[in-house]
Amino acid sequence: MWDIREYRESDLESLLECWKRLGRDIPYFFPVSPRVWETCLLHDASDGEPMFEDLHTVLATDRGRVVGFVQYGQPRFAWDERGKRYRNPQIGVVRQLYFREGHDKAGEALLAEADDRLARFSRTHAFYHALGMSCTAHHGKLHHSQRHVHRLLRRQGFQVEHKNVYCVRDLECVPLVADSSVWIRTTAETKGERFDIWLGREPVGGARVRHVDELTDGFTPDTAYLSWIGVDEPFRGRGIGAEFLRLLVKFLLGKGYRTLHTDTATENWIARRFYKKLGFQEVGETRSYVRAW
Ligand SMILES: CC(C)(COP(=O)(O)OP(=O)(O)OC[C@H]1O[C@@H](n2cnc3c(N)ncnc32)[C@H](O)[C@@H]1OP(=O)(O)O)[C@@H](O)C(=O)NCCC(=O)NCCS
Repeated sequence: MWDIREYRESDLESLLECWKRLGRDIPYFFPVSPRVWETCLLHDASDGEPMFEDLHTVLATDRGRVVGFVQYGQPRFAWDERGKRYRNPQIGVVRQLYFREGHDKAGEALLAEADDRLARFSRTHAFYHALGMSCTAHHGKLHHSQRHVHRLLRRQGFQVEHKNVYCVRDLECVPLVADSSVWIRTTAETKGERFDIWLGREPVGGARVRHVDELTDGFTPDTAYLSWIGVDEPFRGRGIGAEFLRLLVKFLLGKGYRTLHTDTATENWIARRFYKKLGFQEVGETRSYVRAW
């Protein structure tokens, strides 16, 4: 018989075990130490600021064993259509909802708990694309392998808001061909690097990489995450992105990385062809959801 109750400090290890078990097929559920997991789960911050005004974590247990959990609340900030961050958004967020397949009743009870507390908002996001967890390199969307969670959200009136494809590249696989006129300037940032891409004397784009091990307490020493790449429009289609990627692969291999993750919108066919051409494999679709009354 299962039970629903608020998370307690003593649940940390069993919740982490549950998260790992549920995330076996999810490429961005990176291994993580209990200490960092607790920080990511309960005290996650963006630019030093806590992400949530109030964050609730509720567990479903079956004979004392965690079989699922939900996290929900009101975020402190959100982003508008132009990507500008604003404060005090009047939205509810189901940050994560995971439960074991075959435990649909527990899943329903977890979501109902969140719905009750978020009923004051006319709009609720689930797996809100802008608020992941730091130990997932902030990729907060639901992986398509969690079909039972997707079905529950749809039954409860949530619509898919954004779809992405998640991509992984083995850095040691195919070496890429060099073109010496492109070069990069690297700037160290907290937990990663920013790259400015130059063609001769001209700045033509940029990119940003996160070091996943700095988000997981050193548990993923070989994995980096390309969170953004852009070549300025007039310079696209001239091989600059491909050459940047070659330089990036070289740079990351030099630092001991072996795997590069990234993701892009499902409908961004140009980026998808770009990543495929450059040796990335698509390893699943990920989705965020919204429900508005
Ligand atoms: C994706 C992006 C970085 C590619 O950079 P780029 O310098 O234009 O790419 P390249 O010229 O090096 O092309 C490399 C390969 O990508 C694919 N590609 C690039 N542009 C393409 C296009 N317009 N149509 C189809 N395929 C394309 C091709 O396979 C190409 O190889 P090929 O020319 O031998 O066929 C660039 O289009 C961009 O900045 N887009 C906007 C931002 C974005 O979507 N970023 C990625 C998601 S965060």
